[in-house]
Amino acid sequence: MCGIFGCVLKKGKAAPLIHAALKRLEYRGYDSVGEATLYNGVMYIKKDQGKIDDVHKIINLDDMPGNIGIGHTRWATHGAPYKENAHPHTDCESKIAVVHNGIIENFFEIKEELEAIGHEFKSKTDTEVIPHLVEEDMKRGMPLIEAVRDTLKRISGSYALAIISNDEPDKIICARNDSPLVIGVGEEGVYCASDITAFLPLTNKAVIIENGELAVLKADHYKIWTISDWEPVKKEPEKVKWTIEMAERQGYPHFMIKEIHEQPRCLRDTLRLQDMYLDLMATFLDRAGEIFLVAAGTSYNACLAASYMFSELAFLATHPVIASEFIEQQGMAVNINSTILAVSQSGETADTLAAVDYARIRAATILGLTNTVGSSLTRVSRVYIVQQSGPEIGVAATKTFTSQMSVLAQLALRVAKIRGKVGHRQIEEIESSIKQIPEIAEKTIKKNELKAVEVAKKLKEKKVFFFLGRGISSATAQEAKLKLMEIAYVPSIAYPAGESKHGPISLVERGFPVVFVCPKDRTHKTIIGNIMEMKARGAIIISVIEEGDEEIKTLSDEYFEIPGKLPEVLSPIAFIIPLQMLAYYMAIEKGLNPDKPRNLAKSVTVK
Ligand code: M6R
Repeated sequence: MCGIFGCVLKKGKAAPLIHAALKRLEYRGYDSVGEATLYNGVMYIKKDQGKIDDVHKIINLDDMPGNIGIGHTRWATHGAPYKENAHPHTDCESKIAVVHNGIIENFFEIKEELEAIGHEFKSKTDTEVIPHLVEEDMKRGMPLIEAVRDTLKRISGSYALAIISNDEPDKIICARNDSPLVIGVGEEGVYCASDITAFLPLTNKAVIIENGELAVLKADHYKIWTISDWEPVKKEPEKVKWTIEMAERQGYPHFMIKEIHEQPRCLRDTLRLQDMYLDLMATFLDRAGEIFLVAAGTSYNACLAASYMFSELAFLATHPVIASEFIEQQGMAVNINSTILAVSQSGETADTLAAVDYARIRAATILGLTNTVGSSLTRVSRVYIVQQSGPEIGVAATKTFTSQMSVLAQLALRVAKIRGKVGHRQIEEIESSIKQIPEIAEKTIKKNELKAVEVAKKLKEKKVFFFLGRGISSATAQEAKLKLMEIAYVPSIAYPAGESKHGPISLVERGFPVVFVCPKDRTHKTIIGNIMEMKARGAIIISVIEEGDEEIKTLSDEYFEIPGKLPEVLSPIAFIIPLQMLAYYMAIEKGLNPDKPRNLAKSVTVK
């Protein structure tokens, strides 16, 4: 998730305005920054890696001429956060500049094709194909707008982009597919940005650009068309009543709930990962002697779920291990035949990196799954995958958890294919279910949010909770427990439901809340037995069930329904969502700030 901004002013310098707008967008990405302006037929570009303030101290982002320009603050997806990979990206002659938020899926093929006809690339990004494609079209005599439209038809993936060219220095062209883009209409000029925050001090009149639309901005007006059939789109600006702070969170009261709502989009982005990296990692996993899935906190819970996925789909045994215990628990067993798949959103968790370092010294193979390009984990991994969730600001991991599980499921499926362990019908079924997850996640949020508010109100005084599931749902239960504990400060216990009678059930008395995670899988009948055991002792039963599961509905005091059928191995991705919302609203009911739970940091860089 990056931030883009562009402005065409009636008079005055664009650069200081772009700089200030990028500061307001910095929460979207902060590993590098850049600006491009046009003046007297010349393109001016400044960019570098690092935080905006640090870069500004060295290259003065305000000191660029011209009343038109674009800017970008980056959260790396393709290519490490180096200067060459910072936006704007340009064509061979630096006449066309582009800033982009999103992922171009077919950049590899296009890049090869363009290189073959003499284009020279300066970065490792997917974005750079765009200015080169536009250049190619303009060389053939197309005006900028047609060249951009033609380029957009060639690329697939997600984008919000803004483009300028010194052949047509009076305009910015911007377009959107699956990444947010909004136009601001002010007294002094017209703006485009990833979100309203960027231009809110300049104007509160905004026009939302929808998927498949392209807009041309000039200093005193804007025009919008559909990209596919070039129909003009008439849209009047709307007045926005948000404060800057609210705009940063896109109107949500906290980042955590905003990030919960971002899950459908993030899950969609995990479906755009390059096949090459997934296949490569799957090959390493298939050939591994012994596999340890190493992580902390929420990432560990994703590993726990993944161990069920690898076993079920690929017939592959893996050992999920809590990073801080890895050396003591498995240390002597690690050798040249071991493979460590380390999972870390930040890629900087000290416990995970310590486990990885230990394993590297013993010649183990290191694979990494992270959300952060250029993180320490990416630097020590033989192969790594970046899950593309964008920065997560809330301390509680939400969108990064569901994306991790989506990537791990895709990996398990690829290993299954390599190993020839499951038939093509099952593979097709799982593949098609993985594609449906974003939509199911979207419906799940809509269907359950008010219910989460209601249940949180009823249960806010409860002193302790149980979270139970069987099979892969025991991983969902663990994650739900972690969420409630860390942000609502409610002591909670999670364990596989079958363990109740081996001890924990002695805690249960009338009014004790027990949350059951119950997809309609092969554990369904048995978990009904577990629910009955708890009910018989007066527990309050809160269940997460598949829509229409009347059997468990009638046993439950409260229930959350998942609208859609997912195979067992994918169920945690949807079933965790109502419980993330329950934790959030419990924190709200208790007057706590869910974004900043006490004693916790987003990235734990000490052991
Ligand atoms: O960045 P990582 O995924 O390595 O972080 C691991 C844990 O610190 C993290 O998941 C933590 O448990 C969160 N607070 C969970 O919400």
